[in-house]
Amino acid sequence: MDSIVIKGGKRLEGTVKVSGAKNAALPLLASSLLAEGASTFRNVPELADIATMGKLLSSMGCGFERGTGRKSTSITVTVPPAADLEPIAPYELVKTMRASVLVLGPLVARYGKARVSLPGGCAIGARPIDQHLMGLEKLGATISLEHGYVQAKARSRRLTGARINFDVATVTGTENLIMAAALAKGTTVLENAAREPEVEDLARSLNAMGAQIEGAGTDRIEIQGVDSLQPADHDVIPDRIEAGTFLVAAAITGGDVFVEGCVPDHLEVVIEKLREAGALIEARDGGVRVRGPKRLKAVDVKTQPFPGFPTDMQAQLMVAMAVAEGSSVVTENVFENRYMHVQELSRMGANIAVDGKTAIVKGSARLSGAPVMATDLRASASLVLAGLCAEGTTTVQRVYHLDRGYQRIEKKLRALGAEIRRVKA
Ligand code: EPZ
Repeated sequence: MDSIVIKGGKRLEGTVKVSGAKNAALPLLASSLLAEGASTFRNVPELADIATMGKLLSSMGCGFERGTGRKSTSITVTVPPAADLEPIAPYELVKTMRASVLVLGPLVARYGKARVSLPGGCAIGARPIDQHLMGLEKLGATISLEHGYVQAKARSRRLTGARINFDVATVTGTENLIMAAALAKGTTVLENAAREPEVEDLARSLNAMGAQIEGAGTDRIEIQGVDSLQPADHDVIPDRIEAGTFLVAAAITGGDVFVEGCVPDHLEVVIEKLREAGALIEARDGGVRVRGPKRLKAVDVKTQPFPGFPTDMQAQLMVAMAVAEGSSVVTENVFENRYMHVQELSRMGANIAVDGKTAIVKGSARLSGAPVMATDLRASASLVLAGLCAEGTTTVQRVYHLDRGYQRIEKKLRALGAEIRRVKA
């Protein structure tokens, strides 16, 4: 397993370009199942999770091809006629990537049936899919759980529109049901829907395929089902979590970085919090410039579904608070176990006390470099950030977690002046 070695203390300067959003690309790739033919998506990041989605779609009988050269960020998914498709998502693939569950909605909608392995929990929590299944049942699918698989079948040839009220704002739950409702007969209304930009990006692409979806990006989404859809042709939005990770990297190293492609509206609360902590942040054409102060001030953070502070940025902000002046209270409201990075940060000298959903972070002047272990995607990003501003050398092990969500982060950070390299296992 590769590791990443960082010698801390370097000020980051220059321009970094944000890649396409992993959490937009995954549902978009799954949505290609809704239309026979070749769907093309551009600005798709080269990540392990995207490759896993590719393996899943190929195992069903789809073509999955990444462009070459200048077109290397585009992917074409060629979807066969229903008869040639195998609507199964096997445990071997789903256990490595929960987002595989995103094929469930499109398969039931277009092929009338699907057999998808239950994703199981992961490092950050139980992560059930009860809301996905409740919605599919409302749309007229029968759901049975057997041998760790979800067996879903449309009762009649087509799903029928329904009113679905989510108990909890679920991102992939909302995405799954938008895709299922797009081909259902009649109208579907999703209440308490997730409002993330990635949900909006999916709806934009589906509408271009001929779907009739209104209200994506708000908590009430209305979908008029249509008989069929055309293949997609779509540019994926930039990755707001990668962008936010670079904003924090610049802020904690007293740097001056232009994050090209960062969409300020996608990170409003993160930008607000970093400004409150003393970073100078200005949105200008095509990106965001961030200048870090000598030392950040502590601020309190509570994670919430969009447009609140994103849970996917909690670990990264915690590093900033670990070296800020003062104490900050971090509250993780979305997942039940998203503090796996705390014990690793503590090995670097961070002063963090966790009590249930809350973590009290007492800022120290400097962290000290140490060998640390990545546990989940965003926790591993926070360990890289800690290495950037720590005294001495930090070695982050098990960086396969990082490769799931960040395209060659060490290359991008090195280009900004960080002393960072990947060590092949
Ligand atoms: C998406 O996961 C993202 N993944 C996650 O990003 C992100 O952390 C999360 O949304 C929250 O923003 C993708 O988009 C591929 P949820 P998702 O359903 O959809 C509970 C990353 O780092 N819930 O919005 O799985 C659930 O347990 C990943 O890129 C139910 O109870 O998250 C959680 O507490 C990590 N029942 C809360 O809702 C359900 O049926 C939010 O989960 C579904 C969810």
